[in-house]
Amino acid sequence: MSETRLTPEKITSLKGQTKLTCLTAYTAPMAQLLAPHVDMLLVGDSVGMVLHGFDNTLDVTMDMMVMHGAAVMRGLGAAQMQSFVIVDMPYGSYEDNAQDAVRNAKRLMDETGAHAVKLEGGVDLSAVIGQVVAAGVPVMGHIGLQPQSVIKEGGYKIKGKDQAGIEKLIADAKAVEAAGAFALVLEGTLPEAARAVTQAIDIPVIGIGAAVECDGQVLVCDDMLGMHHGHVPKFVKQYTKLAPEIERAAQNFSDEVRSGAFPSEDYVYGVKKAG
Ligand code: KIV
Repeated sequence: MSETRLTPEKITSLKGQTKLTCLTAYTAPMAQLLAPHVDMLLVGDSVGMVLHGFDNTLDVTMDMMVMHGAAVMRGLGAAQMQSFVIVDMPYGSYEDNAQDAVRNAKRLMDETGAHAVKLEGGVDLSAVIGQVVAAGVPVMGHIGLQPQSVIKEGGYKIKGKDQAGIEKLIADAKAVEAAGAFALVLEGTLPEAARAVTQAIDIPVIGIGAAVECDGQVLVCDDMLGMHHGHVPKFVKQYTKLAPEIERAAQNFSDEVRSGAFPSEDYVYGVKKAG
């Protein structure tokens, strides 16, 4: 990660120079832990599933994104950290018309202090992206598997499975690039499709469940930290497994409270530590 904060222009210029890294963050303490180690933080609408227990991202609201975006920015500010932060535009806040999109994109920027927004959609959303960019808000695109389309598509469907699918992805990527996006998330594709998209455009393609040849990678932080039990999607690498650690700590705490071992003298005011 860089010493000074990246800008949208700098991120675009890094295509082919270095692999870009991005993790989601939704809270101040997690942002402080992750920021020194990645190029970008994404306050993703995955927050709805990860922290709020929703089944999908469709119930996430603008107020939730503002609250989590502001928390991340406060955490970084308090620690004087320079991370580039992108906030997701939630379902219903941008896709119906460009006026809504511009108003909500500006609200996310103004009320969080973040540096860019991300929204889902390709050719169909290019006019909206163009207007948000023209209003002065940097946009990261998101094509391929679009989680906000889960009901419309009847599930999470992998993209780019045949030549027509690859051509559709390339058309979407080119439309998002032409509309002025500085980078693009490409989610849930076969690797050959991800390679073709990455080669087809001049802005960085940040993959998730895509291919190693993308210009960078993004993961949901709780996934890569192994914070949950249950199904681990194919594309998720767990770099650690915190869930059993947390359970172990909680069990140890309860055991020690019940046995009277905690709080021992070390943890009681007015009693000096031995030695
Ligand atoms: O909301 C999110 O976390 C995302 C990533 C999966 C890219 O959009």
